[in-house]
Amino acid sequence: MNIIIGITGGIAAYKIPMLIRLFKQAGHEVQCVATDHALQFVTRLTIETLSGRRLYSGLFEESNERSTEHIALKEWGDELLIAPATANIIAKMANGIADDALSTLTLSFTGTTKPVYICPAMNTQMLEAPATRRNIEQLRKDGITIIESGCGELACGAVGNGRMAEPEEIYNNVIPCKIEPLKGKKYLITAGPTYERFDAVRFIGNYSSGKMGYAIAESIAEKGGDVVLISGPTHIESKHSRINTIRVESAREMYATAIEHFPNCDGAILTAAVADYRPKTQTDHKIKKKGDEGLTIELIQNPDILATLGSMKKGCQMLIGFALETDNELANAQKKLSKKNLDYIIMNSLNDRGAGFGVDTNKVTIIRRDGSVTEGSLKSKKEVAEDIVALLK
Ligand code: CTP
Repeated sequence: MNIIIGITGGIAAYKIPMLIRLFKQAGHEVQCVATDHALQFVTRLTIETLSGRRLYSGLFEESNERSTEHIALKEWGDELLIAPATANIIAKMANGIADDALSTLTLSFTGTTKPVYICPAMNTQMLEAPATRRNIEQLRKDGITIIESGCGELACGAVGNGRMAEPEEIYNNVIPCKIEPLKGKKYLITAGPTYERFDAVRFIGNYSSGKMGYAIAESIAEKGGDVVLISGPTHIESKHSRINTIRVESAREMYATAIEHFPNCDGAILTAAVADYRPKTQTDHKIKKKGDEGLTIELIQNPDILATLGSMKKGCQMLIGFALETDNELANAQKKLSKKNLDYIIMNSLNDRGAGFGVDTNKVTIIRRDGSVTEGSLKSKKEVAEDIVALLK
């Protein structure tokens, strides 16, 4: 593939030589275009040596073969990647400004149907500034893929969001997965626990880590599918640009978000450990100790997200649920499958070692609507995710 890397003036430009090597080692051609500011952070010589091509940086440079270099490059490139993308280039792209070599190329490239990716990298406050957020949102609407920045130590010494994605991660997002069987499809995933608050500082929760749901989301994205990942409170972050993570806290928030998105999805896999009950009342202050008389919290039932989606399911939408059982496992799981109108139910037994909450492995049994059952062995959650995602069509 012919990849154009647009480099702008951020400290993360020092990582671009590593990225060029990754592309070149995999047999791709790389053409770099840099702003003047970018060349303060990484040298022309390094880039030209690693890419094996002359760097394009000025609209009217003597070495340009023609005055319409940006148009010729637009024809040559299969994909355009802006890395690092400063707040400035993002603002220019969002507004169609073309005042130097890179922004001119970018404007003409975004007029094609070829993929464009940006890797934002900047100070946290610049990233969180309303204008930058607005501009990134605009780019998303324009069909540009955002390879999200991560949290870490920034050049300014602060620790926060705004650190450019690592070269390997960028590479994995940009080079289309070999086969993308789920391209054009969109799935809803729920993951993690829910927290049911009862006073200003306390909640009822559970030990779910969210690992299984996140692994499924990653696996779908790797196969080209888009994911709406509705996540309860977890420490995991998903970086794939095809995963839209929506963070919620309570079962009711998860429910409202799921029923909003499900009609636009080709299916849903619900892995969340949703609290079946929530405290009847919530106070905004902290409940004080009252001596020996104890404390009774009255619980009321939460809505069942899976059963609701089962009743909403239309046409070819596929619905997969999980069942965590301790007794009468198979029979209970089968009952859930038909009661909630599912296509498959994935059964975990807490009696199996290595299965369940928090661990990196899982052992599941897949039960189909026609009653057939496939018992799996103990595998990593990533492998189990692959098995489950293989059920999607
Ligand atoms: N689930 C849900 N909403 C709820 C409860 C459960 O979406 N309020 C989903 C879970 O994400 C899982 C499936 O339903 O995919 C089964 O969850 P589980 O807790 O095993 O079953 P329950 O239906 O809650 O039944 P029970 O707790 O009585 O076994």
